[in-house]
Amino acid sequence: MDPIITVDELTKQFRDGTTALDGLHLTIPRGVIYGLLGPNGAGKTTLIRILATLLRPDAGTARVAGYDVARHPAAVRDRIGLAGQFAALDDHLTGRENIAMIGRLYGLSRREANVRTEQVLQRIHLDDAADRQVKTYSGGMRRRIDLAACLIGRPQVLFLDEPTTGVDPASRQDLWQPPNTSTKPTNSPTASPSSTTAACSPKAPPPNSKTAPAAPSSN
Ligand SMILES: Nc1ncnc2c1ncn2[C@@H]1O[C@H](COP(=O)(O)OP(=O)(O)OP(=O)(O)O)[C@@H](O)[C@H]1O
Ligand SMILES: [Mg+2]
Repeated sequence: MDPIITVDELTKQFRDGTTALDGLHLTIPRGVIYGLLGPNGAGKTTLIRILATLLRPDAGTARVAGYDVARHPAAVRDRIGLAGQFAALDDHLTGRENIAMIGRLYGLSRREANVRTEQVLQRIHLDDAADRQVKTYSGGMRRRIDLAACLIGRPQVLFLDEPTTGVDPASRQDLWQPPNTSTKPTNSPTASPSSTTAACSPKAPPPNSKTAPAAPSSN
């Protein structure tokens, strides 16, 4: 079976001259949680931003779920979820509303979005607080809502950039359970508790060929 992610000679230098990635090679098989470990500034977030089509590489290639990130960014976006290093939520909405909104942006019907919202809320055990505005949440609660929101579209690949930062030890253990056990038990990836930044790829059917290129930023 093809790897879910392949990276070849990937290079990124920022305008100020900082080289974040210098000829990186990486192959990640399907059905695993893959941890990227490295000191501050090693280039982990830069790699994830490139794989998630938010940043354009200077050289080299990267394929995610069968698609080249530079040539078919929209096809890649259709197949991934991303919880960035800092939670991206609307403070004025409740946790439940934030998740449902992301579901709608993924193209789910209102009913589907509501059903999936309940499923992913159960996964992160935040039912009691789900109807409070996010601005009243603790840092760890925000992280958990952010994670739930990126699971809602049943992504083939889930990028988690330091997902356990600010999360208490019990929730941290819970978070490392396979992310989609509550919805697709047969596709569960294996878990690696030592991972701080992970790309997780449940086994998934080959992607179809619909694509719609879009332009990521160059810096
Ligand atoms: N937009 C940017 N402009 C200039 N330099 C940048 C930019 N983004 C990242 N860098 C630099 O690229 C290098 C890699 O940064 P990156 O954020 O990828 O590291 P990281 O491994 O995720 O670090 P951390 O563990 O602190 O999150 C660092 O030297 C950083 O200063
Ligand atoms: Mg980082």
